[in-house]
Amino acid sequence: MCILQLDRERTNIMDIRKTNLPDWSALIPVLPEAGTRAGALYDALRRLIETGGVPSGTKLPPTRDLMRRLKLSRAAAVAAYERLTAEGFTEARVGDGTYVAAAVPRMGEGQADMPKRALLPVRDRGPLALGVATPDPVTFAQFRKLLAQDLARPPLHLFNYGDPRGGVELRQAIADYLSTARGVRCSAEEIIVTAGTQQGLDLVLRAATSPGETVLVEDPCYPSALAAVRQAGGVAMGVPVDEHGMDPERIPAAGEAAKAVYITPSHQFPLGVTMTMRRRLALIERARASGAILIEDDYDSEFRYAGPPLAALQGMDDSGTVAYLGTFSKVLFPGLRTGYAVLPERIFERVIALRKTSDRQPPGLAERALARLISEGHFARHIKRARRRAEAARDHLVYELQAACGARIRLAPPEQGLHLVVRFATDDPQRATALEATCARETGLRPLSPMYLAGPRDYGLVLGFSGFAEEDFRKAAQALGRALDAYSP
Ligand SMILES: Cc1ncc(COP(=O)(O)O)c(C=O)c1O
Repeated sequence: MCILQLDRERTNIMDIRKTNLPDWSALIPVLPEAGTRAGALYDALRRLIETGGVPSGTKLPPTRDLMRRLKLSRAAAVAAYERLTAEGFTEARVGDGTYVAAAVPRMGEGQADMPKRALLPVRDRGPLALGVATPDPVTFAQFRKLLAQDLARPPLHLFNYGDPRGGVELRQAIADYLSTARGVRCSAEEIIVTAGTQQGLDLVLRAATSPGETVLVEDPCYPSALAAVRQAGGVAMGVPVDEHGMDPERIPAAGEAAKAVYITPSHQFPLGVTMTMRRRLALIERARASGAILIEDDYDSEFRYAGPPLAALQGMDDSGTVAYLGTFSKVLFPGLRTGYAVLPERIFERVIALRKTSDRQPPGLAERALARLISEGHFARHIKRARRRAEAARDHLVYELQAACGARIRLAPPEQGLHLVVRFATDDPQRATALEATCARETGLRPLSPMYLAGPRDYGLVLGFSGFAEEDFRKAAQALGRALDAYSP
């Protein structure tokens, strides 16, 4: 802020201003409406004092002068000064004015004693990490326009408590999209808008199971799903996945009574395989018989590069066995924190009750813009662009990996999604274990085997290709090539 550049020897702010140094009005960043002006002035002055921008003993300008220069009401200026004085940042001297107090708390002081939770860092996710968005400038421009329209003329209901499922416009837009694009059988009434898959999963798990009960998961499994099962008190039991997806025939006897099954049938995470029709039907049949809820996580079906995607498993069931989870994290961006769940009737009330006692309802403001993004056709065009971009990124990564690692790796370019699995050209599990450990350590790329629960493990690396530049692909592939060179059994 400009006051920081001022001559520290001059302690009277009015003097400083008179020397044509920065205007006070430049110090008060936001004075939008009458009601918030005192707060904005208070914030700006407090920040100046805390950061040492205005030293102790400095005389603040008279409120009358501030009033004129900043076009404030006198009451607003007086209120800000009174609050600063009440909190010990300034001292009011009768008949003289207001001065910065002799001892004020400075920012940075005592940080060593701050609890760790105040300093939580944003995790550095490493090279070719998963879950990175590729921003689409056209979509952002459209989204901005729609948001601005809503902000300019906000409908009153956005300011109030509302439907715990979220606004009907977005739910209807999602229902229309899901029935045409994914073959999901649903109406807007059955949908809740969530803060992404993770919240949907948590709500469904807590509604469908009780702590201590068994939940079947794929083995290997999406780590955040496994964490959600455990967090909800469930006992996770892995069911092996092969090239045809999770195998219902291999559900352990102890898992027959499971209350819920978590699956990614369209594109198994992390292996990338698609569950066959026969296994889907078998799984639905078993769940019907046992009364379990199938939780279908359909996280990246928009990114299908070869042929039409297999329709969602939910659409094959007419017995209310499947809870279907979708997300905008992949197709738009994870920071949007918006997804949806299509709920079977038997857990509906319970999910709504849980929702009401946690975050009540989804935030409404971005919801309408998102609904219009979908219903006005922008989203469909966005998907086409995003898919083309992701396919090109996939091809690029595959090219770089083949160029840098050649026959030392095994690679099947995925026909769907935003990640791929690199395996090592060996059939010796011991050698594969060592290669995975060495390469993950040397390159920072993500190892596959820790995603297994119990079954015989496969070894390799899981690489994301969304949100990265060609240069990132080259660097990561070359680092892998060097790690493979350096590995000596
Ligand atoms: C298997 C799987 N499901 C769901 C998601 C999306 O989660 P969320 O919607 O909570 O961001 C991801 C994101 O990486 C994922 O890999």
